[in-house]
Amino acid sequence: MIRIEDIKFDEDHYDLIIQFLNKITGLKLGYYKRKHIEKRIKSRMIRVNCFEFESYYRYLLENPTESDKFLLSFNINYSTFFRNWEVYEQLEDLILKSVNYNRADVISDLHPNPERKYRKKSKRKSHKIEDTSNKKKLEHRLKNKLSAEKFFTQSILYKKLKDFPRFKQPINIWSCPCANGEEPYSLTIIIDNLKKQIPQFPEFKIVASDIDENAIKRAKIGIYNEESTKNISRYFEKNYFVKEKAGFGFQYKLIEEIKDDIKFFEEDVMKGHQTSLVYDVIFCRYLLIYINKAVRRKFLKILENRLNVGGLLFLGKTETIFSSQSNLKLVDSLNRIYMKIN
Ligand SMILES: C[S@@+](CC[C@H](N)C(=O)[O-])C[C@H]1O[C@@H](n2cnc3c(N)ncnc32)[C@H](O)[C@@H]1O
Repeated sequence: MIRIEDIKFDEDHYDLIIQFLNKITGLKLGYYKRKHIEKRIKSRMIRVNCFEFESYYRYLLENPTESDKFLLSFNINYSTFFRNWEVYEQLEDLILKSVNYNRADVISDLHPNPERKYRKKSKRKSHKIEDTSNKKKLEHRLKNKLSAEKFFTQSILYKKLKDFPRFKQPINIWSCPCANGEEPYSLTIIIDNLKKQIPQFPEFKIVASDIDENAIKRAKIGIYNEESTKNISRYFEKNYFVKEKAGFGFQYKLIEEIKDDIKFFEEDVMKGHQTSLVYDVIFCRYLLIYINKAVRRKFLKILENRLNVGGLLFLGKTETIFSSQSNLKLVDSLNRIYMKIN
């Protein structure tokens, strides 16, 4: 059996395939890490029984659907509502703390519904091991929370919320990239839920952008499958979605009221951002891990320039900023939250 490691092609061959796929799919593959793309091309090659560059390139030219299949295998727009839900809980905690509310003062619940069939079942462990590891995890989370809180009180989000209604400044949030809208809608749901329960609550402006025209179209439609809604809590599902039968499963339709709260843009952020807004919070999750070093550096600079001093940048759980020249300081290591300090 041929494995991915067995397939070899040189730089010129790689460039030819990339140029062709760029042209047909409209993807900017040059932004991504070569290792990542090569792996996907090679797995497609194995799938269609072409084990050398020449035969696969011919296959690409002769089979118009192959480029779409490559795109699907790349699964570039993958996202879910409340992806790493603890991160959203941390943001909700910060908002509550800033307006002098406790968790017990409002109704909210971010815990994913354990009954959703698309959720991964946790591996069986002995109770004893599970107890100690859970205890350690909780201690670690508590320690992280306490150290993060010190910094959060210096954030612009905290200050704007504290100053309200003496100073009525809107709070600007940018979800970049937003894929099919799961991330900005998760943020809108949290904020809308708090706004309905806290009488003096400032205005939040939420902007969301992605390079992919089709992803933005799907975001504006606001209908999602079981996979992308698997982390939604029972409480939010009940209040913000209409569940409908679709094929053998279900689809989840966002309520109209929520859909109007976000401004969506189709844009390549590497070429600039279409609004003149400066943000208090930016979510940039699960893009940096896929793009190459030079693009990542430029992308981060664009985001940093769009953040207010004291603004918070949320990265994906596995993402890190390495540059020592950046003004972004890690303030919550568990949830990968950075703050602009200068
Ligand atoms: C894996 S999704 C991440 C979605 C979401 N932030 C999350 O964490 O679930 C990555 C997205 O980045 C978008 N993207 C890639 N390059 C981009 C660029 N230069 N400007 C804007 N969006 C880009 C892709 O179209 C894709 O939808």
